[in-house]
Formats: sequence, C-alpha cells, structure tokens
Amino acid sequence: MPAQSALRLGVLGAANIARLFVAGVRPSAKLEVAAVASRDSARAAAFAREIGVARSHGSYEALLADPEIDAIYLPLPNGLHAEWAIRALEAGKHVLSEKPISVTAAEAKAMFAAARAAGRHLVEAYPYMAQPQTLLLRELLAARTIGKIRLIRASFGFKLGDTGNVRFDAALGGGALLDAGSYAVSLVRLVTGACPIRVMATSQFDHGVDVTTVGTLEFADGSLAHVSCSMATAFHRQASIIGDGGAIETSYLNHPPIGGAAMLRVKRTPTSPSADAPELFETIPVEGGNGFLREAESFADLVAGRSPGWTGASPEESIDVMATLDAMKKSAGSRDWVDVER
Ligand SMILES: NC(=O)c1ccc[n+]([C@@H]2O[C@H](COP(=O)([O-])OP(=O)(O)OC[C@H]3O[C@@H](n4cnc5c(N)ncnc54)[C@H](OP(=O)(O)O)[C@@H]3O)[C@@H](O)[C@H]2O)c1
Repeated sequence: MPAQSALRLGVLGAANIARLFVAGVRPSAKLEVAAVASRDSARAAAFAREIGVARSHGSYEALLADPEIDAIYLPLPNGLHAEWAIRALEAGKHVLSEKPISVTAAEAKAMFAAARAAGRHLVEAYPYMAQPQTLLLRELLAARTIGKIRLIRASFGFKLGDTGNVRFDAALGGGALLDAGSYAVSLVRLVTGACPIRVMATSQFDHGVDVTTVGTLEFADGSLAHVSCSMATAFHRQASIIGDGGAIETSYLNHPPIGGAAMLRVKRTPTSPSADAPELFETIPVEGGNGFLREAESFADLVAGRSPGWTGASPEESIDVMATLDAMKKSAGSRDWVDVER
C-alpha cells in the first residue's frame, strides 16, 4: 500500500512496456501509478482499467496539467522522448524516461537543460542498473578487482518479426542500435566511466532501419570495446569485462529471476586455466527481482531526497551514450572511423 507521501506517477501513452512497468512497481510503498494518458480517451480508459490504474486522461496535455501527478513515466516511441520530456519538465513534473533517452545527443542535452531550468529531475530508465548485480559490478570495478580495464564486449539482441512495431519506424527512432545498442553502450559507459573518442560501426538494414549493428569503440586511455545489437537474432545478452588482472562476465539482465540467474562470474587472476585450476571463474550469486520496481523506487528516493537516491545513469552518462550512438550511426553510413562529438 503506497504511503501518503508516495510519489504520484503518471504514465504517458498506452505502451506495451507500461503494462509491465505498472505491474512491476505495484508492490512499492514509495510510489503509486495514479493516472495514465493516451491520445485517445477510450483507449486511455480501457488501458487504465486493464492495468488497474484509478484515473485516465484522453490527452498527454491533460496528464501534464494534472495537479495530482508529481512525475511522469515516459514510454513513448524514442523519437517522441525529447518533446514530451521537455513539456513534462516545463509543466513542473519530474521525468523517468524510457531508454534511449532521446534519438540524438543534441536532444539529450536540451532535455537536461530543460530539467535544470525547471528544477526537476530527469533520468533515463535502464532497469539493469538498479539491480544488485550491477551495484556489485560497480563495487568490484571501483576496487580494481580485475586491474586496469583493457577490453569490453557487450551484446544484446532478440528476434522481432513484427515489422509494424515502432522499432521498424525510422521516423520514430526505430532500429536495433537505439533500441538494443543503447543497452550495450550504456554498460560500456558504466564500466569505463568515459566516453569513447572514436568509433567504427557496421549495420545491416531492413525496412529502413538497422536490424543488426556491430561497433568498435576506442577510448583515450587505449582501452577498446566491442558492442553488438540485433533485432534479428535469438535473445542474447552478455558482457565480458576484461582487465589486465582478471575478468568479469555478466548478463546485465533487467529482471533476473528471483532465486535464479542473477550472478556475476569473476576471475581475479590474469592466468589461464591449468590442470590444477581448470575453472578460474568464481560465480557470485546475487539477488534478482523486478528491475522496474528497483528503478522506480530509486527514482522515488531521488525525488524525495532520500538515500541512496538514484542508482542509474547520470545525465553525463546518458549524454555520452547518445553521443556514442550518434557516432556509430554516422560510421555505419560512412564505413569509416568517426570521432565522438561530446
Ligand atoms: N526498459 C525496457 O525494458 C524497455 C522494453 C521495451 C521498450 N522500452 C522502451 O519503451 C518505449 C516504448 O516501447 P514500446 O514497445 O512499449 O512501444 P509501444 O507499445 O509501441 O507504445 C508506444 C506508445 O506511444 C504512444 N504513441 C504516441 N505517438 C505514437 C506514434 N506516432 N506511433 C506509435 N505510438 C505512439 C502510443 O500510446 P497512445 O496511443 O496510447 O497515445 C503507444 O502505445 C521505447 O522508448 C522503448 O525503447 C523499454
């Protein structure tokens, strides 16, 4: 049951992901999904009934004008994030935006400028970042458990057959790079703590959007990352982080099943397996659970000024991810190295 001071969230758009988000955050006492909005009032009312939300609005503007709403969860198609985040911030709402935060770094910068001007919080939703496995990963990296990071491989892909999905609409910010590549690049940004200086990428296209993209990211300190993403493969999601003193493997899942797959595999030595020690990786089990719940509670803590506050991407990280994606898009078009313009 939400507490009296619970953050009152409004959902902008009857999006598929909003169904899962609302179900995920329902157990929280820190927030309450108080209203939903759709461009169509009948759809808004039906959506509110379906997902068990008390109030609905027949326009996005009406939700932003609702005085009983403190913050907006923004699951619109990628190409609409910037416009509606800025409108929500200007209406005095805090914003939890679905990833990718925007479709370009320039848009992301304008969004964070709007948040600063309005004195409201804007954050990008990457549920895996709120998971204990990612918090532990950050701790291990901060303690230099695997030495100096030299190489990262991060991938995320799945099969999307429905070409009517918004991910196949270039005008709305579709494509694998923005949808899935944003995850892989965000993990690389989290690990390196830096924006790459230049990138080289290749894409395969279908129905006007990239369905598979691979890229090499080069950092000022000489470390390298390889990222790949696809909407045309079996589901896969894996990252290897390799230092000069060891390695870490993670699935960086958004919602690792409770009592199931949440874990990090950590090798704390640069040596290779031998007859004496055939398996050098130690498996560290960590708590799983719903990433929307953890992420939304972290957002509620941020807005309320409670500790530990926001555990997800900082504005700088979100902007760096978009700058990297911008450069990868450009490189895939030019088939050449492209400097990342931060
Ligand atoms: N974190 C995650 O795990 C995760 C997973 C999936 C998706 N996402 C992100 O969530 C966002 C939404 O993805 P989704 O798959 O849920 O999208 P979706 O089901 O297609 O929903 C998008 C919603 O946007 C609204 N909309 C406004 N203008 C639109 C337009 N011109 N065309 C289509 N829809 C329009 C529609 O709501 P109304 O008609 O009701 O106004 C629609 O229901 C994306 O940014 C995606 O990257 C995140």
